[in-house]
Amino acid sequence: MPRKKIMTIFGTRPEAIKMAPLVKALEAGEAFHCVVAVTAQHREMLDQVLDLFEIKPDHDLDIMQANQTLFDVTCKALTGLKSVLEEEKPDLVLVHGDTTTTFVASLASFYLQIPVGHVEAGLRTGNKRSPFPEEMNRKLTGSIADLHFAPTTTSRENLLREGVNPETIFVTGNTVIDALLQTVRPDYPFTGPDLRNIDFANHRVLLVTTHRRENLGEPMRQIYLGLKEIIERYPDVLVVFPVHKNPKVRAVVEEVLGGLKRVRLIEPLDYQPFINLMNKSHLVLTDSGGLQEEAPSLGKPVMVLRDTTERPEAVVAGTVRMVGTDRQKLVESVSELLSSPGAYRSMANAVNPYGDGQACRRIIQSLLFYFDKNAVRPVDFAVK
Ligand code: UD1
Ligand code: UDP
Repeated sequence: MPRKKIMTIFGTRPEAIKMAPLVKALEAGEAFHCVVAVTAQHREMLDQVLDLFEIKPDHDLDIMQANQTLFDVTCKALTGLKSVLEEEKPDLVLVHGDTTTTFVASLASFYLQIPVGHVEAGLRTGNKRSPFPEEMNRKLTGSIADLHFAPTTTSRENLLREGVNPETIFVTGNTVIDALLQTVRPDYPFTGPDLRNIDFANHRVLLVTTHRRENLGEPMRQIYLGLKEIIERYPDVLVVFPVHKNPKVRAVVEEVLGGLKRVRLIEPLDYQPFINLMNKSHLVLTDSGGLQEEAPSLGKPVMVLRDTTERPEAVVAGTVRMVGTDRQKLVESVSELLSSPGAYRSMANAVNPYGDGQACRRIIQSLLFYFDKNAVRPVDFAVK
């Protein structure tokens, strides 16, 4: 019997990181023929991940342009994917998460009546404008998808509340934990110029990332002003900030934090040094989604620079705190952790609500079950 053809479609850094272990697992197995298409909604930041995991896309739409709008990404990806899907005729398309590439790839597949599997399904804030446009991207993708790979029972419940057929939902854990466990090393040597001179022994490193569309402009300025105050208050604090390539982020970062002594503004790091830097950091400040999953598993407290989160599990577990973008609240919350060892200890617990490193295995078993190649439905991921 011919192997079923699975096409994975992704376009940005986080999708690539979270799909990479799945692509590798599909390629390593005999059961499926795996084809990779990238929109390249991101370019350099995507290529960093493709290089690291040695993934050579079969199709690369190369759509990124500077200061692209949602319309640019949507239109270019939709048109480009039409040709790719018509040529390849996959038996199923796998998309990931909540980017515009994710939604558009689902829509293109739906128009061509190709089944869609949604990896990292069911995350919700309940607010269609926050994060923007991701909440809507994932809801629309969820409406189209035929298979839902929910990372946690919370995300499964979100889907059930929206009327999704329970037979089509598989709780798998998040593939980001598969990627992380394959990457983190206690003895990782920092050889790159940005990290090799960091004196971890005498500094508390605050790892910072920001990029959310709804934070662009004034909210980001307030975050950076808050950071500046923290640096002035605590002489042993060193901020390491790999700055997202978005020119709108870069302009404000440079304006507020440029030239400050204990601030390292650096280029986006490759995933390997980035994760190992996180492992050596004291605290993480971020508006990223993925970092909210990675840091808890390394026992690093996270201050989330957003008003909403679709990842409540680590907030409940106590390692993640929502602080928003208010400058004063940020300074107070971070100061509390930097001044009180007890407060820090209460947050710095390694918890793994998002996965156990077996998500890819469960997704592949679910695909085998879907295609009637395996009679047994895989057992759902549950937190131990
Ligand atoms: C996108 C996703 C967001 C995801 C984020 C991860 C959408 C609408 N947004 O947001 O969900 O959390 O990626 O980082 O899908 N740029 C480069 N080189 C790169 C990448 C980006 O120069 O490798 C610059 C370009 O000028 C580009 C801009 O950044 O136009 C914004 O990229 P875009 O993908 O539109 O938005 P992100 O904020 O990265
Ligand atoms: N990351 C990276 N290098 C960096 C910053 C982040 O490899 O300099 C990784 C990080 O480990 C995580 C992912 O990028 O897996 C998060 O991407 P981002 O914050 O851009 O997107 P989000 O998760 O918010 O969608």
